[in-house]
Amino acid sequence: MKILILGSGGREHAIGKKLLEDNQSIHLYFYPGNGGTSLIGKNIENHHTVLELGFFAKKNTIDITIVGSEIFLLEGVVDIFNNFGLKIIGPHYLAAKLEGNRIFAKSFMKKYGIRTPKYDIFYCYEKAINFLKKYTNSIAIKTNGIAAGKGVILAHNQNDARKALKNIMIKKKFGKSGNQIIIEEFLQGKEASIISLFNGKDIIPFLSAKDYKKIEENEKGLNTGGMGTIVPNPYMTNSVWIDFKKNILEPTLKGLIIEKLTFFGFLYFGLMITHNKVYLLEYNTRIGDPEAQTLFPLMKSNFLNIIQSSFQHKSISIDWEKLCSCCVVLSSKGYPEKYESGKIITGLNSLKEPFYIAGAKKEQEKWITSSGRVLNIVGIGKTLQEARKEAYDKAKKIQFENLYFRKDIGL
Ligand code: GLY
Repeated sequence: MKILILGSGGREHAIGKKLLEDNQSIHLYFYPGNGGTSLIGKNIENHHTVLELGFFAKKNTIDITIVGSEIFLLEGVVDIFNNFGLKIIGPHYLAAKLEGNRIFAKSFMKKYGIRTPKYDIFYCYEKAINFLKKYTNSIAIKTNGIAAGKGVILAHNQNDARKALKNIMIKKKFGKSGNQIIIEEFLQGKEASIISLFNGKDIIPFLSAKDYKKIEENEKGLNTGGMGTIVPNPYMTNSVWIDFKKNILEPTLKGLIIEKLTFFGFLYFGLMITHNKVYLLEYNTRIGDPEAQTLFPLMKSNFLNIIQSSFQHKSISIDWEKLCSCCVVLSSKGYPEKYESGKIITGLNSLKEPFYIAGAKKEQEKWITSSGRVLNIVGIGKTLQEARKEAYDKAKKIQFENLYFRKDIGL
């Protein structure tokens, strides 16, 4: 069995480690991969377009491809692999628009009565500015395209809102993705990530997760790809799950089937839990990073069997450890803006599993930093407190110059 995993983060390392744990005889390939994935499989060298990846997979008789990063989805990798007759996990291009095109996603939510914050769409800067004059509450301004995860700006006053609109629509800070924007009601609450597997017939949710997106403690500062996660999310109580299933998951499934947007892949619901209701902020059409790094260590079921059952249209149930996990992301100081790489990392060779490499590589037997998010250190415990203690105890064993991490993951 040969499996190709597309992406270069800790998520892809976590998917690969989980597959190998369950099935020692598989061969893993990664594109582009990272220093961690090169130790458990083969990183495909050189730059490849998605078409070239299709040729690579065909020539090398890859059995299954798993898409980690959305970049490949938005380049139509699933459609190309399907045309080659190759098995691939991920949405085709039209369904990937649920993540890649926010106006498309919001229109889908509206059409199928999926509970989401109120919003308006603007194609013209003057109209958006006029709208602001009548609106005094906090808002979220979102670019239509995902702008590498940076195209959401929260504005709590008119000045900030005007500045954001100018940056997005006039100065084109996020390029073409800001040609159309969404102004959305700002909701106060707790965020949750529900990652699920969609087999074309059913949506099977994983355990709930909570992502810590901002660079600084107490959710302050710039947005990042994620500075840590915990599983399960303590705010996903039974009643929130029931509300989520009735008002978000079930109408989503109905809409996907009616619109012929079914696919075999992952669907990630980005939720906001307010004092009395749960709302859908966004869909992603992949597994979250670093959510994956906290979910896979708790998955008892054989992940490859789950994937194969889905391809055979069998019903799926996933078993989970009744434990908690906490992932702390160790990053290079300065991330998500400018930072230095090439720093020597110590403590990694004797670190207890689980942990995942994101931006580090091995050179002449030494680990060195190679990106903004460097390592994902995971603790597991009977309680969240135990899990976070283990994660932070392990994190203390790692050192490199300019190491930065948030101290409040799971607090
Ligand atoms: N952790 C958020 C994401 O993967 O988009």
